[in-house]
Amino acid sequence: MCGIIGIAGQSAVADRLLESLRRLEYRGYDSAGIATLVDGRIERRRAEGKIDRLAARLAEEPLAGTTGIGHTRWATHGAPSEANAHPHATDRLALVHNGIIENHAALRKELIARGHRFSSETDTEVAAVLITDLLAGGASPKDAVAAALKRLEGAFALAIVFVGKPGLIIVARRGSPLALGFGQGETYIGSDAMALAPLSRRIAYLEEGDWAEVTPDGATIYDEAGRVVARPVRMAESTGALVGKGNYRHFMLKEIHEQPVVLGDTLKGCLALDMRLPRLPPLAFKPEEATRWTLIGCGTAHYASRVAKYWLEELAQVPVESELASEFRYRRAPLDPKGIALFVSQSGETADTLAALRHCKANGLHTIGVVNVPESSIAREVEVSLPTNAGPEIGVASTKAFTTQLAVMATLAIAIGLARRTIDEKRARALAEALIEVPARMTEVLARAAQFRTLAQTLAAARDVIYLGRGTCYPLALEGALKLKEVSYIHAEGYAAGELKHGPIALIDDVMPVVVLAPPDHLYEKTASNVEEVIARGAKVIFISDARGAAQFKDRALATVEMPDVDPFAAPFLYALPVQLLAYYTAVLRGTDVDQPRNLAKSVTVE
Ligand code: G6P
Repeated sequence: MCGIIGIAGQSAVADRLLESLRRLEYRGYDSAGIATLVDGRIERRRAEGKIDRLAARLAEEPLAGTTGIGHTRWATHGAPSEANAHPHATDRLALVHNGIIENHAALRKELIARGHRFSSETDTEVAAVLITDLLAGGASPKDAVAAALKRLEGAFALAIVFVGKPGLIIVARRGSPLALGFGQGETYIGSDAMALAPLSRRIAYLEEGDWAEVTPDGATIYDEAGRVVARPVRMAESTGALVGKGNYRHFMLKEIHEQPVVLGDTLKGCLALDMRLPRLPPLAFKPEEATRWTLIGCGTAHYASRVAKYWLEELAQVPVESELASEFRYRRAPLDPKGIALFVSQSGETADTLAALRHCKANGLHTIGVVNVPESSIAREVEVSLPTNAGPEIGVASTKAFTTQLAVMATLAIAIGLARRTIDEKRARALAEALIEVPARMTEVLARAAQFRTLAQTLAAARDVIYLGRGTCYPLALEGALKLKEVSYIHAEGYAAGELKHGPIALIDDVMPVVVLAPPDHLYEKTASNVEEVIARGAKVIFISDARGAAQFKDRALATVEMPDVDPFAAPFLYALPVQLLAYYTAVLRGTDVDQPRNLAKSVTVE
């Protein structure tokens, strides 16, 4: 994982590198560092922890130099210490790295045998020392990097500056994204266009296997075979402004409250509002003819796809699998060439999801993306990308990306159902109407957010929490548990309510909070019976349902939450709010770092 930035420039770079690192902090915040070339020598500053620590370090000891590289780290190999922070430097170069060098152990052994010494526990330092070894043997920077790339295994992106080579950065992309930005007498490199936004909007993406010599005058790009290649330069859409928190204490809370607006924006993109019918972009294939759909993602995006599985199966009557990208990509499952693979990802950079996409493309499947970042690798590599229009999501715990992913897939399910004639136009319009109502109903729930702050006191005092749901609220229960774990560090599990009696019910005692998501759908009575079972065993139930459901459990549940009436089809959108708000307020009570919880990163670019 990690974020990379670099400037081959003409004026001081340290402050600008720092500003870009802040934009990359979503990729990890275990440590950060910058190296610049000053009179041909390498100078660097590194700090354990977040970018602010590096900023403080640079304030104490500023860094000159007009060419430099920077890095923000999500630790894979080696603890998040200053010694393990990038850039890693030798007497000849400094290097930053995103990804994993898989054969690091063998290379380290070999390099130690050749007399080299290591000062960190990272896989990264192996690349630095290997290139140094080749330079010591007389190779030029370009030849040394070319030779080293042949020996490095894994998925990674690298950026390297060299002692005595002012103005030169060599970069390489294998598996991890890397973009070049072009300015006036300056050239930039970065992990994504957002990091480059304040520097340049003229962006070219390196392709798989590409590497490049970057100087203030531009870049010479080579493909894997070493041939000079041209990559298209395009204007990036990303905004130059850093996104702020507004009046909210945390990005997570701001993003929760943005949902009515961004959901409306997303629906505008995929519904013809006047016609009350879904609108798909022009496709070069007929999705209604697909014999099978495979929905692939990680984390919250995976849970969104698990909701969509219910919708597509019911409305389009087509077999659907919802897969974890990290499992799917290695499973050697038989792939149906008449199938469609759909990739769900906020960042569009998640390594496992991207690898699964490439696997499906190589096997001839049609591919669709449901992606939030339009310039991302997944958005660019799928045949058709359906944007979620959530705007930048900064809080590490995904919220608005989840509900906008749901919106895109809900309209897709209606569209496919219509095209397959498994639903008629009247039903399609009714479902679309239900979606159009969601933003207003969400606003009602958000206006009563304070009740979740009170309920959070129960969760904040718990050691474990169980979430229950059925049908489309089963994935919501999983998402609720994930949200609580990631931001409050409280152990939580989500279960299908009907599955509880097959084991997990043994966990229930009189201190265990059980959060139940029970919209008034055809499964309500079944869920209610399961709730009776846990109440009989003393559980503290927080029962979330409509007015009738809330009344049913008012006297026996610890608390009931009354949700607005909605069509059951739209329930997952609304029931996402209580699980997000409960997690948020619980985390605040526990005093965790809500927007950047420990050990996590927003975009996981290692497998
Ligand atoms: C990380 C994030 C999660 C996110 C998951 C998938 O684990 O912390 O919030 O759901 O990655 O990310 P993606 O960008 O592919 O949606």
